[in-house]
Amino acid sequence: MSSWPKDVGVLAVEQIFPAQYVDQTQLEEYDGVSGGKYTLGLGQGKMGFCTDREDVQSFCLTVLHNLVKNNNLKYSQIGRLEVGTETIIDKSKSVKTVLMQLFEEEGVTDVEGIDTTNACYGGTAALFNAINWVESSTWDGRYAVVIAADLAVYPAGTARPTGGAGAVGMLIGPNAPLVFDRGIRATYMKHAYDFYKPNLASEYAIVDGKLSIQCYLSALDNCYQLYRKKAQKLDPTNVGIESLDAMIFHSPYCKLVQKSFARLIFNDYKLATDDVRNAKYPGLDKFKDVNLEDTYFDRDVEKAFMTISNDAFEKKTKPSLLLANQIGNMYTSSVHSGLVSLLVSKEPSELVGHRIGLFSYGSGLASSMYSISVTKDLSKLTALMKNLKNVKPLLEKRVKVSPQKFTEIMETREKNYLVAPFEPVSSINELFDGTYYLKHVDKVHRRSYGRYVSENV
Ligand code: ACO
Repeated sequence: MSSWPKDVGVLAVEQIFPAQYVDQTQLEEYDGVSGGKYTLGLGQGKMGFCTDREDVQSFCLTVLHNLVKNNNLKYSQIGRLEVGTETIIDKSKSVKTVLMQLFEEEGVTDVEGIDTTNACYGGTAALFNAINWVESSTWDGRYAVVIAADLAVYPAGTARPTGGAGAVGMLIGPNAPLVFDRGIRATYMKHAYDFYKPNLASEYAIVDGKLSIQCYLSALDNCYQLYRKKAQKLDPTNVGIESLDAMIFHSPYCKLVQKSFARLIFNDYKLATDDVRNAKYPGLDKFKDVNLEDTYFDRDVEKAFMTISNDAFEKKTKPSLLLANQIGNMYTSSVHSGLVSLLVSKEPSELVGHRIGLFSYGSGLASSMYSISVTKDLSKLTALMKNLKNVKPLLEKRVKVSPQKFTEIMETREKNYLVAPFEPVSSINELFDGTYYLKHVDKVHRRSYGRYVSENV
């Protein structure tokens, strides 16, 4: 390539999620917690989950198949495929190599990329790898595809209502309608044991809930301050939350996102000059000298900045929480499903020319803030958004499962985790049309998959 490719970004997006969910109000009752804890306290409406018919590989097969077919692509047009996931079912063989089965139908084998893992951050690392490839000397002119996919499951107890499941596929290349801003990515990485999965015989993480929230908020402060600094260097008029029309966050649960949005305003307040602070934040003078590090669980700060930021939150962030509220945490795909939520909640004319900020957090910890500039070309954006028209109808088509049945399904998953040989018992008729499913695990742990197509199609 003799010239730097222009407007590298997202050309197409695909979202999938399970066809069944448990209602969070019913789960509160079943778990015997006080009414409102999961729905108001955590901000969750429904939680998607999988039976023994789906795993991370079937998720990735489905989302890749849909992305390729819905955009009339050929597998030979894809030169790089990156998978971000923390749902590990094999310590050596990558999910990416499993996906190569789909490329076989066209005899394609020349595809770079492999899996990337660090809690919920793997999808962002995979995305950065894809962007970097397209912008590098090794780019051969083909598309990159990024898949972020996870089944977020917790044992019975306080963390369980913050589960979920989903996958997002993104087609990356030049001349895109959603363009990644250059030179302002901000990253913050550190060693922490807030959430980790040392027990390879279990699907569950070890979680220090309070520490994970503290790590998330401190990563947010650090990424935002660095992003602000870099953005301001490129454009001195580009300062703070006003420079972003939308702000998307990794969403472990929606209430944390609302608190996080307020936290950005708190950062803007702290970084403002006295004149600006007095004019823009009346009555908040008492927080001027507090240290950010002392306020992760400070109720006064939280309440004051959630109140003052509420209107901006409703406008800039709430639309991106649709899927997070209806499905739950999707780990690596959570922040990307925030983008999908924004796209399905708006008309193309409401988004053209906008700038969208994104914050990705993965425990352990790895975090980044970056931004996307939306094209001013309405037809280009409309084409991308048209492909997402099925997301809302499919959310409505899901089947509600009782907490009792949900718990039984989770117990079955626990019992059969990594068992071989294994024949899944759940029906495939409840899957959405076109979903890949686990057929069989043989005695040496080799998994085979089928694709469910109902007779009506
Ligand atoms: N009505 C309204 N709100 C209520 C009610 C009620 N009846 N009961 C409780 N609440 C509120 C609480 O006041 C609390 O609000 P606050 O956060 O503003 O204080 C909220 O509901 C949650 O209640 P807690 O008692 O704090 O919840 P608990 O400690 O049992 O669990 C936690 C919450 C820690 C988030 C747990 O679900 C967890 O460990 N989840 C997994 C870890 C996680 O998601 N971490 C986030 C970043 S890392 C990642 O992405 C995995």
